[in-house]
Amino acid sequence: MTLPCPPLNPYVPPALGHLPEWGAAPLALLDAGAGAARAAGLDLFTLQLGRPAVVGFSPEWNRAVLTGPATFRSRGSFSSLVPYLNGGVIVTDAPEHADRRSKLNPGFSRAALAGMTDALRRRLSPFPAGPTDALAWADTTVRQLLNTAYFAGEFDDALLARFLAPLRRPFPAPLLPRPATLAAVRRELLRLGRARATRSRPDLLTALVQQPGWMEDTRVSLAAAHDTTTHALAYAVWALAQRPDLQTPEQHPAVIKEVLRLYPPGWMGSRRLGCDLNWHGHTLPAGTLALYSTYLTHRDPALWEDPDTFRPQRWAQKPPAWAYLPFGGGERTCLGMHLANLLLGETLAALPPLRALAGNAAPLPGLTLGPEGPLWVERA
Ligand code: HEM
Repeated sequence: MTLPCPPLNPYVPPALGHLPEWGAAPLALLDAGAGAARAAGLDLFTLQLGRPAVVGFSPEWNRAVLTGPATFRSRGSFSSLVPYLNGGVIVTDAPEHADRRSKLNPGFSRAALAGMTDALRRRLSPFPAGPTDALAWADTTVRQLLNTAYFAGEFDDALLARFLAPLRRPFPAPLLPRPATLAAVRRELLRLGRARATRSRPDLLTALVQQPGWMEDTRVSLAAAHDTTTHALAYAVWALAQRPDLQTPEQHPAVIKEVLRLYPPGWMGSRRLGCDLNWHGHTLPAGTLALYSTYLTHRDPALWEDPDTFRPQRWAQKPPAWAYLPFGGGERTCLGMHLANLLLGETLAALPPLRALAGNAAPLPGLTLGPEGPLWVERA
């Protein structure tokens, strides 16, 4: 039996396969593929994305992908196509990856980050008066907090905005090379890195600059940090603004978890098979693009009760293993998981009571998944 495959659009030249749908409406394509796989009693389906690709969504597949770095390689996956992410730890494969990560991990640990909490609180501006687009506000807030966390606020803010802005624009904007901006970012990093050689600051760059390849890891981790955290924050603010009953610090952790379940910014993880793989009798050849879909897993009715409903109280119970992976898992678990949780927690704790006015919260999958926006809210 061959693996199921969502139908190809008959009006599209066969050579393009699913690429037009993948570009225009990938969530619908994923839902169609998962429907076909479930109907066949399988957890995997194929897509034609210019090269053979498989998408899986079961906890078993997620565990295989995320704990098999020798088989599931990062170099040559989707990240390699995005200049922002094609570098440093993100595209370093096993066995070198483990060593590179072990050098970066201490700076991003919960304990190390605790020391910057006061600086982050001081950086948070009061929530604006009057109607405010929570998405645009989250974008600026996260950029400023990242500047504080990474550079003690010393990175040229206009340059940081210029560097990060294309990430949230529709394709192909995030795929364009932008050599002038990258050169300016490198000069700014060099200036700030040199300053830390003589005097340390309470920031991430002080830890990063001591590692080989620090400039690349600083740049790619910043890119990985910004949109993901912005989108999670925007959705969390929108959720709080709709639900006054959730606007207490005790509720915030469950709100964040539920936002990351329903709207995982990392909606799709990608790898490339380094060797042939036999998956329940199906041979997947080396070189196949192997995708895991956090979006599908997080909304799988076999794993979650009422999966499409925003229900923070579900977090009173633990989910099944490998069913919840907003930060991935295994040795490539998100480097910034604790940083993201710190930024989200501190920002929500500082919010005044809000109410929702109007907005479009439909999930829009780009490089990361976020609300279409705008999301208009105001102080209650
Ligand atoms: C809510 C916010 C965030 C979400 C949802 C998120 C999600 C993820 C996911 C799903 C992965 C694994 C991708 C894979 O399968 O390879 C990942 C990896 C990564 N993330 Fe995050 N991320 C967030 C924030 C951050 C922040 C703040 C940083 C800043 C350091 C960051 C840096 C990275 C890096 C460097 C990797 C690659 C790790 C490796 O390959 O060893 N992320 N993130």
